[in-house]
Amino acid sequence: MDTFTYGFLAAALLLLASSGPSEACSCFPAHPQTAYCNGGVVIKARFVGATKVNLNNRTSEELGWIQYEIKVGKIFKGFDLITDLQFLYTPSEESLCGYTHLSTNKSEEFVIIGNMIDGKVRISSCGFIRPWDELSASQKRGIMQIYKNGCNCTIVPCLSMPCSINGDTECLWTDRLISRSWKAYQTQHNACLPQSSGTCTWQSMKLRAASTTLKSSAVL
Ligand SMILES: *[C@@H]1O[C@H](CO)[C@@H](O)[C@H](O)[C@H]1NC(C)=O
Ligand SMILES: *[C@@H]1O[C@H](CO)[C@@H](O)[C@H](O)[C@H]1NC(C)=O
Ligand SMILES: *[C@@H]1O[C@H](CO)[C@@H](O)[C@H](O)[C@H]1NC(C)=O
Repeated sequence: MDTFTYGFLAAALLLLASSGPSEACSCFPAHPQTAYCNGGVVIKARFVGATKVNLNNRTSEELGWIQYEIKVGKIFKGFDLITDLQFLYTPSEESLCGYTHLSTNKSEEFVIIGNMIDGKVRISSCGFIRPWDELSASQKRGIMQIYKNGCNCTIVPCLSMPCSINGDTECLWTDRLISRSWKAYQTQHNACLPQSSGTCTWQSMKLRAASTTLKSSAVL
């Protein structure tokens, strides 16, 4: 058994042993642009191994961590923080929002958004970790070049009517309300970007992408 398989089994056993139904990690959905803007580190990488480690040696109650070994293909954000990134860390407990990597394909590339804490990049099940190939062309473009321009704008999720925004730097995220899914048009294709006036509005990255003339699909 390689370390990857071993790490995964260890994580699975620990979960079986420790998670009760009352303990749960709950996350609020985030638009990929929000995830990008809030993340300190945004990379494309392959997962090549996992081991259970203790990050701290202070007390016996320190919880375990999973150390994922990765091979970085590309750094989109966090150049200033990352020197030689080889490992990502996540709590071993799912109830603490530990991320469990299910794919065993070491060739598969993932976009991973994490945060640098105490010199280590942490990831969680609430974070944005997706196979690169599953992103829409617009989302790839967002991560590579567009989302960063919208980090002064705020994307506000709309859960039920009426929804409102508090000012002209906010964009209302209505995918859930309109499509009953957080992965609809605004998530797949739009970025919330400032106009020259400073007002933030949804803009289609499809339009920016294509040289062919596209009809803008109205979102609202
Ligand atoms: C805990 O770790 C620190 C450095 O990280 C080390 O200096 C110290 O000796 C360690 N303490 C024990 C009890 O292992
Ligand atoms: C693993 O991932 C690579 C790259 O995404 C893909 O080409 C390959 O088919 C995958 N292999 C398996 C067994 O799924
Ligand atoms: C965001 O706002 C800050 C302060 O107002 C400004 O310095 C910065 O250039 C803005 N960033 C973008 C991407 O517009």
